[in-house]
Amino acid sequence: MFIVYSGENRSAPGAEAARPESIIVLGSVNMDLIVVARELPRPGETMLGQHFRMNRGGKGANQAIAAARCGAIVTFLGAVGQDHFAEQLRHDLFINGIEADLVRDVDGTSGVAIIVVDEHGENRIIVVGDANSAITGLTTPEKDAIAKADILMLQLELPIAASVAAAREAHAHGTMVFLNPSPVQPIPGDLLDCIDVLVLNEPEAQRYGDHLLDSIPHVIITKGAAGCVYRGPEGQMKVPAFEVEAVDTTGAGDAFVGALAATWSLGPDEALRWASAAGALSATHLGAYQPTREQLEAVVHGSF
Ligand code: RIB
Repeated sequence: MFIVYSGENRSAPGAEAARPESIIVLGSVNMDLIVVARELPRPGETMLGQHFRMNRGGKGANQAIAAARCGAIVTFLGAVGQDHFAEQLRHDLFINGIEADLVRDVDGTSGVAIIVVDEHGENRIIVVGDANSAITGLTTPEKDAIAKADILMLQLELPIAASVAAAREAHAHGTMVFLNPSPVQPIPGDLLDCIDVLVLNEPEAQRYGDHLLDSIPHVIITKGAAGCVYRGPEGQMKVPAFEVEAVDTTGAGDAFVGALAATWSLGPDEALRWASAAGALSATHLGAYQPTREQLEAVVHGSF
């Protein structure tokens, strides 16, 4: 699978020298159990896979780590269970420099995702939320942390009531709200009213329709190999994708969103170049992968 590169994507060296964003992510953290197989099994079929891999995932944690690796100061709000995955998930947040003191330890098991990837990089994912499902509202320290951040990032893998509460808290304190509405589900009106930036893929955009999208200040629709389109207060633009040989697109959208938020202060056009580079590089690895700042610079500045 190839994602197309265009030289128009190159930006001026040094253009990224803005202050780091302070980002808070309220979202899921899962252990991803990944199997690579020649093809995806059909109903009722047992087949031999080629290899197995386990790594941290969850749209929330993936986006948090993508933003941190891109240079942002990141706090993560979420929950892990009482199992051996919990320690590994916490450790992964820690080694990526993420503030995770407010992550809750709850009864039961940590979130898990079962992922099957075929030889074309196509995947199928089933997520079992478990500990993530315990976040149904916010504590006072969680609200305080949201109020102090520049950007709140949300997805839809936690109970929606928590995301609504977080968005309202952010909105009331001038913290920008980014929503990546995945997995797709109805967005309540009081969450919609708080969204500043919506990032979604084409099928998700079709599910929501133009009427809903038109009510949001900044909308970014990602189109895989065809790049992405942006619509905001100053008009529209199309940003081409970078060419890479994709191995697995799991988490590529998360890498895109994390890098976008981390570079948002550069302006949408520049931030979308970093985000596109992050999405493309993520797809070159098996499992949800988040590129480092150095890897991103090499792509954005054209030496990749
Ligand atoms: O977006 C990819 C992620 O979705 C995986 O890491 C998996 O955990 C699910 O949350």
